Formats: sequence, structure tokens, C-alpha cells
Amino acid sequence: MLQDFWNSGLYEGNHGFVWQYGESLLKLLAPKAGERILDLGCGTGQLTAKIAESGAFVQGIDSSLSMIAKARSNYPQLDFAVADARDFEVVAPLDAVFSNAVLHWVKEADAVINCVAKSLKPGGRFVAEFGGKGNVGAIVGAILSVLSEIGCESPASLNPWYFPSVGEYAGLLEKQGFEVRYAVLFDRPTLLEGGSAGMVNWIEMFAGGFFSGLSEEVRSQVIKQVEHRLRSTQYHDGTWIADYRRIRVVAVKNSY
Ligand code: BEZ
Repeated sequence: MLQDFWNSGLYEGNHGFVWQYGESLLKLLAPKAGERILDLGCGTGQLTAKIAESGAFVQGIDSSLSMIAKARSNYPQLDFAVADARDFEVVAPLDAVFSNAVLHWVKEADAVINCVAKSLKPGGRFVAEFGGKGNVGAIVGAILSVLSEIGCESPASLNPWYFPSVGEYAGLLEKQGFEVRYAVLFDRPTLLEGGSAGMVNWIEMFAGGFFSGLSEEVRSQVIKQVEHRLRSTQYHDGTWIADYRRIRVVAVKNSY
């Protein structure tokens, strides 16, 4: 089981853009009534509920107990379960697996793709979006330079994220029996909620892995330094902007 460091209340309150942007990914999924669909890494369930509106039978899974508890209380009529993206099984073959803004948390991409492949019918589709190569590059760069300056050895090894290129990820999919029908990497600068506190909130919510060995006091000084370095490029008219880059893929499980 992955470590459950999520605060589902804060996530829903301050980071709603995660599923709001994800709604355009639903167009690529194009769910149909009667289909069996898995929402892999469903978080608090907003996109699972959108998929269900199509009449598809959908289940949402997430490795975080806290996210699943919130999803169940948001949508008691829907099916949610705690499960690990690297090691899950389904009761009957699926028409589609959908995943938004999650797979950059799972470095074992081969294990995820293997589970997705095993859970799909031949001809079933995998529709996913997550952070791609260069994602939040300005933020990662500032964190690494501040950590180096305070004497942290090999801070890059603390990076909790997997941001592949299109070529790398398409290769992994093809190796496991998928045909890649669509794959794209694009910039999606993202306005952070919370005004002047937006960047600190984002770092505290998502980038804690970089600071795991630090005391509370040092951690908070480092985050302030990082914020200071990012101000000239990422703070405009009272709003922080994160330099997101997304990878989107649609892949179909081969029938042979
Ligand atoms: C993303 O959605 O790209 C992302 C979110 C949190 C941390 C890193 C990346």
C-alpha cells in the first residue's frame, strides 16, 4: 500500500483544479451506457461521478483510505474501493480504464500498465493524463537548488514523481500489448487557488516528499526560500501559476 499522506479535505477545498481540468479528458474517454469502466486513482470521486452520468458502470479505486472515505461520503450511490495502482484486479473484464492526475505518483509504471492490461477486454481502452516530461520544472528546479544550498546530498533522489516523455510512455504501453492511438505532451500553466499563499499551499500539499528528513522549522524556511525564488516568474497579479505539462494517452489493448 502506498503511504497515505493525503488530507482529502484540503485537497478538495484548495485543489479543485485537479478534477476541473480532468473534465476535458472525459471527452477522450467518451463513456457509453452499459460499459464497465474503472477510474484509477479516483481521489474524492468527482470524475467517477461524471463517468457514471453516462450510464456506464463505474468503480473508483484509490490507494488513499482518506480519499476513498471522502469519495464514499460525496457519492454514496457509487462503488469505491481502496486499491494500489501497481497491484489491482477486477472481477470482470473492463471496457475502459480512465486515470486523471495520478500516474505521476507511481514510479513503477510497468506494474501499473500490466494491471491495466490484465483488467481490460481485448479492444478495451486506456485513457490517461498525468504529469509529463518537464512538468513543474521551475518548481522542482527551485526546490533542488535550495536543498543543495543547505547541504542536502543528492536531493534529486528525493523527487517523488514520474514524469515520462511521450516516447518513453508509448514504448512501455506497446511492450505490454497496447496500440497507442493518441499521445501528446502539452504545457498547461495552472492557476493556484489561495492568492498569495497559493504556492506554499501547493508545495505543502504535493511536494512533501522532498522535505521528509527535515525538521518542521527547516522545512518551513526552505519552502519560503523556494517561494521567494519562484516569485519573479510564477507570481502574476496576485496569483501563483504552476508550470504544469501534461501527457495524455489513449491506448487500445490489442485483440491478438
Ligand atoms: C500534476 O498534476 O502534474 C502534479 C500534481 C502534484 C504534484 C506533481 C504533479
